Amino acid sequence: MKVAVASDHRGYEFKKKLCRMLSEHTVVDYGTNNAAESVDYPDYALRVARAVVSKECDRGILVCGTGLGMSLAANKVRGVRAVVVHDVFSAEMSRRHNDSNVLCLGADVISPGAMASKIVQVWLDTPFEGERHARRVKKIMDLEGS
Ligand code: RB5
Repeated sequence: MKVAVASDHRGYEFKKKLCRMLSEHTVVDYGTNNAAESVDYPDYALRVARAVVSKECDRGILVCGTGLGMSLAANKVRGVRAVVVHDVFSAEMSRRHNDSNVLCLGADVISPGAMASKIVQVWLDTPFEGERHARRVKKIMDLEGS
């Protein structure tokens, strides 16, 4: 899978470890490139969101302090279904039922260890169930611009 990743300064160290977690995938890193310079997370959310909706990448993963700002920003881009997830069950369900295409993680919420790795793996591997969930996801997407 081709995965777009980005972080702000708060998520930078986590993102470095995330790239290692994604060694079986093709990773496109949209920055930021250091933790020292304070940057604005919407700029990085936009890069990943565009990579996903343009189909340049299959999925996106964003990291900031909480995951919240990244998800709020990414969800403004038409076609994005970004979720903040810090547990394996939600990672799975966000794929099965919501067809999430961007995963947002909080570097101040979860450490980049085994749990984060499992969340990422489950989120990448779980398919969308479609059927009645496709109808509901379509209703979400129809809300864009409303
Ligand atoms: C940056 O200080 C912080 O606000 C950001 O990383 C993120 O947590 C926002 O939601």
